[in-house]
Amino acid sequence: MDLSPLLPLLHRTARVAALTGAGISAESGIPTFRGPEGYWKNHRPEELATPQAFQRDPRLVWEWYDMRRTRIAACAPNAGHATLARWEGRFADFAVITQNVDGLHQRAGSRRVIPIHGHIWEMRCTREETTILDYTTPLPNLPPHCPACGALYRPAVVWFGEALPMEALAECGRILDTCDVLLVIGTSGQVHPASTFPYTVLERGGAVIEINPTETPLSADATVSLRGPAAVVLPAIERELHREPS
Ligand code: OAD
Repeated sequence: MDLSPLLPLLHRTARVAALTGAGISAESGIPTFRGPEGYWKNHRPEELATPQAFQRDPRLVWEWYDMRRTRIAACAPNAGHATLARWEGRFADFAVITQNVDGLHQRAGSRRVIPIHGHIWEMRCTREETTILDYTTPLPNLPPHCPACGALYRPAVVWFGEALPMEALAECGRILDTCDVLLVIGTSGQVHPASTFPYTVLERGGAVIEINPTETPLSADATVSLRGPAAVVLPAIERELHREPS
């Protein structure tokens, strides 16, 4: 893979950000949403990750999250997550905006992570809005209820049709308005508003580097589009940067 077009973009660059999706966790063993294992019991994610599905059948939705939690608990961050964690030390300003709820960036050591779709390891009382961290997996009784008021708990994630947390959106705005380079890693670019983030950067003259084994709607517009798995391409970029004088 020819990484030479990247070097002028990343050398002496202070402000770099990454936008990640399910693909960065694929090599940790977590299936992507729109890949071959994206369906669960014949349901697509768009049919389960909605307030309507939860209202209709909270047990079914919780079973899906519980299956995912169990699977994620058995997985570890991969070389892609680890490379991004190290880049906090390489670039003066480095942040990860992630659509993933798996917590693998944080486990790999990234400290500046904006998880725009929430956390699979947290749940929230649907009445009192109190959020609790929950590391128990699998949960003993599904669906779980708030011990204080008896209302249902829901996963503390953002569902289709729900607004992103204001604070996270504001932080993303600040990053996208100032970064020199945005790396777009392992996302199909089909879910709003993350799908618009690369265009915010491109429109004000910033560079966008896409890393994905398959073509996406962004590929034609990206400054550089690299075909390959994140756990291979990110360490390869890092090696290339080390070889060049910084
Ligand atoms: P998708 O499943 O839509 O897309 C995953 C992308 O990762 C695809 O473009 C794959 O080609 C790519 N990919 C696969 N293996 C890879 C690898 N080893 N390295 C790099 N890329 C790889 O996942 P997202 O784009 O993250 O939202 O999906 C966005 C949102 O839709 C999710 O956050 C979730 C989902 O439904 C909610 O639940 C609200």
